[in-house]
Amino acid sequence: MMMVKSGPKTVILLMSFIILSVALFGCETPTTSVSEPVASSQTPIDSTVARGLSIYNTQCKVCHGTNGSGGNGPRLIGKTPSASFIQANMPRNKPNSLSSDQVSDLVAYITSLK
Ligand code: HEC
Repeated sequence: MMMVKSGPKTVILLMSFIILSVALFGCETPTTSVSEPVASSQTPIDSTVARGLSIYNTQCKVCHGTNGSGGNGPRLIGKTPSASFIQANMPRNKPNSLSSDQVSDLVAYITSLK
């Protein structure tokens, strides 16, 4: 009974706007926001970690163990590695031998360890 007083025209107009905006967003959202971020953000991260892993296995694993589990060198799982520390100190037996690309791949790999 109260609704009738506020005017059925207003209600119908409001409903049309809601339906229209749902229809518009319903069409645009899935194509742009569902597929793109997955493709653009996952691929680079995964390949960086993969490169880091292969450098790790050849140059770091001997001291830090498989998957950073530890050995002569400290366990790296759960650590937040410092790029400048790695660059200047690692590998322990051959410091300053890594390129900055290799260091950032290693940082991504170590950060991914859980
Ligand atoms: C010859 C052994 C050895 C090798 C090879 C080696 N490390 Fe280390 N690493 C150590 C030791 C020992 C430490 C402890 C700190 C120190 O003595 O400088 C350490 C410390 C670290 C730390 C700091 C850990 C912490 O607790 O904060 C990181 C990160 C690290 N190493 C990464 C690497 C990476 C990446 C590589 C491969 C490029 C590598 N290390 C190769 C022996 C090694």
